[in-house]
Amino acid sequence: MNPMSICSAASSSSGSPSSTKAWIVHGIALGAAAAVLIGAHAYFFLFRSKISRSRVVGIIPARFASSRFPGKPLVEILGKPMIQRTWERAKLASTLDHVVVATDDEKIAECCQAFGADVIMTSESCQNGTERCNEALQKLPKKYDIVVNIQGDEPLIEPEIIDGVVKALQVAPDAVFSTAVTSLKPEDVFDPNRVKCIVDNRGYAIYFSRGVIPYNKSGNVNPKFPYLLHLGIQSYDTNFLRVYPELPPTPLQLEEDLEQLKVLENGYKMKVIRVEHEAHGVDVPEDVEKIESFMRERNLS
Ligand SMILES: *[C@@H]1O[C@H](CO)[C@@H](O)[C@H](O)[C@H]1NC(C)=O
Ligand SMILES: *[C@@H]1O[C@H](CO)[C@@H](O)[C@H](O)[C@H]1NC(C)=O
Repeated sequence: MNPMSICSAASSSSGSPSSTKAWIVHGIALGAAAAVLIGAHAYFFLFRSKISRSRVVGIIPARFASSRFPGKPLVEILGKPMIQRTWERAKLASTLDHVVVATDDEKIAECCQAFGADVIMTSESCQNGTERCNEALQKLPKKYDIVVNIQGDEPLIEPEIIDGVVKALQVAPDAVFSTAVTSLKPEDVFDPNRVKCIVDNRGYAIYFSRGVIPYNKSGNVNPKFPYLLHLGIQSYDTNFLRVYPELPPTPLQLEEDLEQLKVLENGYKMKVIRVEHEAHGVDVPEDVEKIESFMRERNLS
């Protein structure tokens, strides 16, 4: 499935960039505290692997052909191409050494070069953003430890969320994948386009589902339960990214049509951070107007 559609389907929830930061910082502090508890040996390992995962690249996969919205990356949002808005947000992330756009399309490449982005051309045969990231990674002249897959159709992505998924992977050496969730309103829990996630008490993913998880015994949504909505952003250990697209599809992945289940079904660990985020994904042409009026209301330009 396309992780972008998760983002776009996401509902709005109140939140500000500063509270995003607070959540993330809190999560990282907890992670560090946990590391100290695991003991010196583990801490040494963690410290070492933190260093060995220090080189980070952000890749924005962008393709021109989209059945629902051809030319989507170039659509103007308040006068600026969407891909440029995403790139500008990504450039503000402090953990990224490099940000590149990976595309198969000349028009997108030209547009990105005009506003100053580095572009990697990838083949038209890439089936999804993950494959495109992997191909771009192989073509980059430098070596990286972590790749962040930044969805080009979330032009309001907070740089703090990008930094959050990177740091989550840096402090969890046993994880190969990290991603983000935000709170989901009880009235949206039944929507199969909003992918729910459950995590263990150290912030590792247990499962993702289009169905209601956890399921309350009463059969109703529990208005008091903090349901988690999965967001499209993800980051990978680069060694894992090389094998990920090659792993054959798994039964739960196919049943739920959720790519990320392939990671869990193969026994890999995935770190999940909680953020406050109002998702404003652009999936269909009608979304452009929605995001523009949201930005006007908040004086974002
Ligand atoms: C189910 O939800 C209700 C609220 O609707 C809550 O009081 C209850 O503790 C939840 N769990 C169970 C097992 O009923
Ligand atoms: C992307 O597409 C490839 C090829 O169709 C497939 O093997 C893979 O499972 C897909 N998803 C990911 C996350 O690599």
